[in-house]
Amino acid sequence: MDQQTIIRKTEEMVRDQLLGEGSGHDWYHIERVTNTAKQLAEKENANLFIVTLAALLHDLADDKVVESEEQGLLAIKEWLEQHEVSADDSEHIVTIIQNMSFKGGNGIALQTMEGQVVQDADRLDAIGAIGIARCFVYSGKKGRPIYDPTLDVREQMTKEEYRTGSSSAIHHFYEKLLKLKDLMNTNAGYQLAVERHQFMEQFLDMFYQEVGMDKKTE
Ligand code: ADP
Ligand code: NI
Repeated sequence: MDQQTIIRKTEEMVRDQLLGEGSGHDWYHIERVTNTAKQLAEKENANLFIVTLAALLHDLADDKVVESEEQGLLAIKEWLEQHEVSADDSEHIVTIIQNMSFKGGNGIALQTMEGQVVQDADRLDAIGAIGIARCFVYSGKKGRPIYDPTLDVREQMTKEEYRTGSSSAIHHFYEKLLKLKDLMNTNAGYQLAVERHQFMEQFLDMFYQEVGMDKKTE
């Protein structure tokens, strides 16, 4: 099977599976991440076939989407085998997916340029205007409030509160979103992250202003 056909079939399968997904991992998240990943791959000279397949499949092992990570990874392996992806390429793709989540998966940094590019693309979709939207959708789904004035002013937050976090959507900015810019692996990814990061800072400034929370800017 030629590479274009494998990619097209994978696109169709992922779209069918995630089209109506409600936690911010819907098909259009996958489509954005795949497009960004391809763009970064060209700038960073990463292998486009690996990058495209890893980006398309990356959320099918997330336990927010499938029953368990283990089961998800197994299904991905079977899919790649059925579509005659070589054992080496398949292993590379599965390793990327296994290691790319924010929790660090297993805390292992991604070794290959392909993995770094796909992880950057996924992280870019968690910041900026899209990232803000996804954060509020996710919080809503979990029944968490927009903000908690006793917790969300940056200066008042203790380390313990960071750790136990996730009390509100705004809290998640400190827990994760504002950290992502400096976690970018690639130059091309960092370039895109800077503007999105600035936009989140602006959003927070305006947010605090509107709700009358006295956030001092440092
Ligand atoms: P990704 O698919 O980008 O790896 P996750 O599965 O961690 O991301 O989360 C999906 C989306 O939901 C992201 O945009 C993320 O920032 C957001 N999200 C994850 N956890 C929380 C949380 N505790 N509160 C608010 N938003 C969250
Ligand atoms: Ni994702």
